[in-house]
Amino acid sequence: MDDQLKDPSTEAHDSRPNRKPTYVIQESPEGGKYIEAYGHRYHHSGKIFLPFDEDEQKRMEIQHRLFRRCLNGALTATRLPLDVEHILDLGSGTGIWAIEMATRYPQVQLQGIDISPIQRTSVVPPNVKFTIDDIENPWDCPPGSLDFIHGRSIAGGVRDWPGLLRQAYEKLKPGGLLELTEIAISIHDFDGKFADAELCPGFLRLWRNLSKQVNMEFDPTPQATEWLLEAGFEKIVQQSEILPLGNWAQDEKLKAQQNLMNEITSEHFVNHGGLMFATCGWEKHEYDAVAPTFFQDIMKNIPRPYTMAVFTTARKPREN
Ligand SMILES: C[S@@+](CC[C@H](N)C(=O)[O-])C[C@H]1O[C@@H](n2cnc3c(N)ncnc32)[C@H](O)[C@@H]1O
Repeated sequence: MDDQLKDPSTEAHDSRPNRKPTYVIQESPEGGKYIEAYGHRYHHSGKIFLPFDEDEQKRMEIQHRLFRRCLNGALTATRLPLDVEHILDLGSGTGIWAIEMATRYPQVQLQGIDISPIQRTSVVPPNVKFTIDDIENPWDCPPGSLDFIHGRSIAGGVRDWPGLLRQAYEKLKPGGLLELTEIAISIHDFDGKFADAELCPGFLRLWRNLSKQVNMEFDPTPQATEWLLEAGFEKIVQQSEILPLGNWAQDEKLKAQQNLMNEITSEHFVNHGGLMFATCGWEKHEYDAVAPTFFQDIMKNIPRPYTMAVFTTARKPREN
């Protein structure tokens, strides 16, 4: 295996403990502030490590097609009852899921919450309402009022997952359903030839170290079951779908997932890295020296690498 993949402890992988953040706060022409880091725009609070600019919005919409592919065209891994009425979408982004869901279920009232006002404004069905807020604030709905809560690809903006899940439990009706979807921050080997440590290239290890430094969990799925149980949920199921990296998939479904992954991974880490690295004092040229070859390095060294989309579903117990 390539040295670059094996050895994460080179100088390039040091954190920058004595440096100040390298991002800048900008005024937008429409008024309001945003953070700029490595050419991408982030929410001015500095709390959300996911950008909101046009590149990222495009990526979100390709990723939406990817998740639907994984679910064979469905919008949820959860099988929803026919009488579902109130749905909450956490971190709606462009609103594409909320809009398609509300079109599919015209009888529901669907509320989407996001900290950034980037939701589509055209072709929004009347049963969708978007609210601009931090999803870690109390939601504007009574306890026991929701049938289904959906949160997809919000890791990078949530500080307190157990707290978020406790609120979800409180706001769901008895028997209400929850679904969380995230792409894992891990690389796997389809042939099973490499040990786990070899599948953690330096950049990924660096990513994990820095995310601890900024106190942000980018991959909540390994701990999600424990948090859901603590909150009181039952019937917890995790379904993983293979997302091939590179060009090795044979069957039609995996090939389609691979093509969409190839579309989003070129910009994926570049898009997601900026604010975290800049908060830790990294200059853009230092980041550029370690980040852009990440996927090429993996594909050069592992014949059939993949990551995973993980769909976590759970239910609030029914009343006896
Ligand atoms: C990668 S996008 C995913 C969007 C959408 N869920 C989808 O799957 O198409 C993540 C979105 O979650 C939002 N988000 C993340 N953390 C948030 C928080 N704490 N409060 C509100 N919105 C948040 C971001 O602003 C961003 O629009």
